[in-house]
Amino acid sequence: MIRILIPALGGALLAGAAFAQPIGDPAKGRELVGQCRTCHGLDGFAKIPIAPHIGGEPAAYLANQLTAFRDGTRTHEMMTVVAKTLTDDQIADLAAWYASYTATATLTADPAGAPEACIACHGADGISLVEDAPNLAGETNIYIDTQLKAFRLGKRTHDVMTPIASELTDPEIRALADWYAAVALTIEQTD
Ligand code: HEC
Ligand code: HEC
Repeated sequence: MIRILIPALGGALLAGAAFAQPIGDPAKGRELVGQCRTCHGLDGFAKIPIAPHIGGEPAAYLANQLTAFRDGTRTHEMMTVVAKTLTDDQIADLAAWYASYTATATLTADPAGAPEACIACHGADGISLVEDAPNLAGETNIYIDTQLKAFRLGKRTHDVMTPIASELTDPEIRALADWYAAVALTIEQTD
């Protein structure tokens, strides 16, 4: 009996581990962030235009993206290399580090002009209202444009974003990217 029970339990634990995200420790993430800061900054405010601001993003979103780069379901010449050797714990710790910051957006345009189709999840000002969606505030228009086209082309896939992006024309993508890129973003440590 015991011989049968133990492998069954082990299998169940392994299956659970593959889906559950470990809870990250920001202090451990701080020790790893030297690998990231040239492009994303220590605080997640990007240093180069093609890299996104990631400080103050939901930890779940950051961990999902790092896992996607590592597993090859999202690809990018820089991030694929960076993520390749990260363990699940390191991913959780890095996500916790960047998520420990607070992102604040300042919208200068009239909020009535905000894109209706996006605000339920990304907010009028580009601060995410749902755990699994990223902030868009202050990302460069090049970055937002590239991601929407990646979803439209199927190079990046997601249940919600793939159908949304597949309906968008190039000029619509440009206008959406310009809306969120125009929002001023600050990232601060608030604890
Ligand atoms: C050489 C520059 C570079 C380094 C170093 C780098 N990144 Fe990136 N990162 C990028 C670029 C460029 C992108 C955008 C990729 C794309 O266009 O799909 C990105 C995207 C990301 C994303 C996705 C963000 C989003 O909004 O979808 C996360 C998360 C991320 N990086 C985390 C990290 C972490 C954590 C490290 C360190 C372990 C790191 N990056 C190191 C350049 C870099
Ligand atoms: C129902 C919620 C929802 C709506 C509505 C929505 N999004 Fe998203 N969006 C998401 C989620 C969730 C993700 C994360 C996808 C992933 O995990 O790859 C995302 C990702 C993105 C990204 C990638 C950002 C990054 O940092 O890499 C962009 C750009 C984006 N959305 C733009 C838009 C725009 C523009 C609209 C309106 C036309 C829109 N979204 C509408 C939920 C939504």
